[in-house]
Amino acid sequence: MDLQGIETPRLAWSGECLVIGLFENAVELTGDLAELDQKLSGTLAELIAEVEFKGKEGSSAITRVGSNSPVRKIAIVGLGQADGLKLETLRRATASAVRLAKREKCKALGISFPVWNNDAAATAQAITEGIELTLHQDSRFKSDAEEKANKLERIELLGLQGQEAAITRGRQICLGVILARELVSAPANIVTPITMAATAEAIAQEYGLELEILERAECEKLGMGAFLGVAQASDLPPKFIHMTYKPAGTPRKKVAIVGKGLTFDSGGLNIKGAGSGIEMMKTDMGGAAATLGAAKAIGQIKPDVEVHFISAVTENMISGHAMHPGDILTASNGKTIEVNNTDAEGRLTLADALVFADKLGLDAILDLATLTGACVVALGDNIAGLWTGDDNLAGQISAAADLAGEKIWRMPMEDKYFDGLKSVVADMKNTGPRPGGAITAALFLKQFVKETPWAHLDVAGPVWTDKEDGYNNAGGTGYPVRTLVNWALS
Ligand code: BES
Ligand code: MN
Ligand code: ZN
Repeated sequence: MDLQGIETPRLAWSGECLVIGLFENAVELTGDLAELDQKLSGTLAELIAEVEFKGKEGSSAITRVGSNSPVRKIAIVGLGQADGLKLETLRRATASAVRLAKREKCKALGISFPVWNNDAAATAQAITEGIELTLHQDSRFKSDAEEKANKLERIELLGLQGQEAAITRGRQICLGVILARELVSAPANIVTPITMAATAEAIAQEYGLELEILERAECEKLGMGAFLGVAQASDLPPKFIHMTYKPAGTPRKKVAIVGKGLTFDSGGLNIKGAGSGIEMMKTDMGGAAATLGAAKAIGQIKPDVEVHFISAVTENMISGHAMHPGDILTASNGKTIEVNNTDAEGRLTLADALVFADKLGLDAILDLATLTGACVVALGDNIAGLWTGDDNLAGQISAAADLAGEKIWRMPMEDKYFDGLKSVVADMKNTGPRPGGAITAALFLKQFVKETPWAHLDVAGPVWTDKEDGYNNAGGTGYPVRTLVNWALS
């Protein structure tokens, strides 16, 4: 699909379908819009009246224009209040425009939206993201993929001439988001620790990143007993992925992104029962998927920062080799863990990944994990929980998420709740009581980072959506790749 910013004003544009963004309570046609309406023989005013269009966010309408018109179809998309316009509103309005155009089988589209905050580059990037993410339809596992294929061939962004770099940046980031989506959506018989390692290999090859894959024996040598305990019942080999992007000159900062990578979480012997959503546990590598997605984006952008992408990838399965509930594991920092629940496996894999990252001498570590159902209970499906004791890091990550339109909410790191993880026999248990379950999970992880400013994102809710929502189609969302990229670049 050809995507371009052009100088042509909407009054002079000709083509198949013109989409105009309108603010709430500002739908009277004045100035160039009045002229445009005249040119379209009053169709625009009629459309607004007929559907009682008020410019509300999320509203849209489209109609055919008379046959002699330079524009065949005219669409309107509501942008809500002009005051406090958000980039996210533009992304979602773009999604509405693209969905209208698709439904109408348009091949060419002109989009005329206001510029956000006098920032044409950010506007062009956000609209590009809205387009690319809406158009991405994952039909890899459908036999009628051909019929569903995208028919849009050309989109022009009116008034955004000269924004090629921003459009390219948006497209690069979306390639990372789409990779993460496809990894999350693919089932556990397709995405395995082996294929995750192969995906990392492909990214490293294509964009020139350093890659180290630690096999089981090397993980054993490093004393990664927590990670290997989780892996021990699987027929598939665990893979510890460590990929590094290094800039040409001296890096401005060095950070690590650490993702939970359970390609399937059966729960282990504390097996997930009926109604537990076990069939969705292919998404339990959402953190690792976003980590690889961020690597793909950053590999293309080539910023002046060093970024380590880390994931301890395995399945949590059952067999005669499985961990017994109550087993005691020793992590690579020497801490002993009583596994009172084999379904709290993500934190065990992350423990060794965090110890590994902590030894790299970095400025910050951010981990992201589909860690707890408790976080979904607390914040629902659309918001990730953020835990960190570092206010500076919290500010950076919140700003990055805000720019991306990916919602996060800071949660309390309540040290007192560590009491719930006290063990009679070991240094700690891996599971605390049900109340505050997402907090004890964060406190568990905290035991494995000693040197480096660290933050934890529980992304159990937002990595997947059952229904189409804005620029997300049903399936993996690619959350929070765009936040990760913004944060790494900040
Ligand atoms: N992968 C799950 C968390 C999860 C739940 C992700 C729902 C996405 C949707 C995690 O490994 C898990 O099983 N957590 C348990 C922890 C409990 C045993 C302390 C949970 O949330 O029930
Ligand atoms: Mn689990
Ligand atoms: Zn899990």
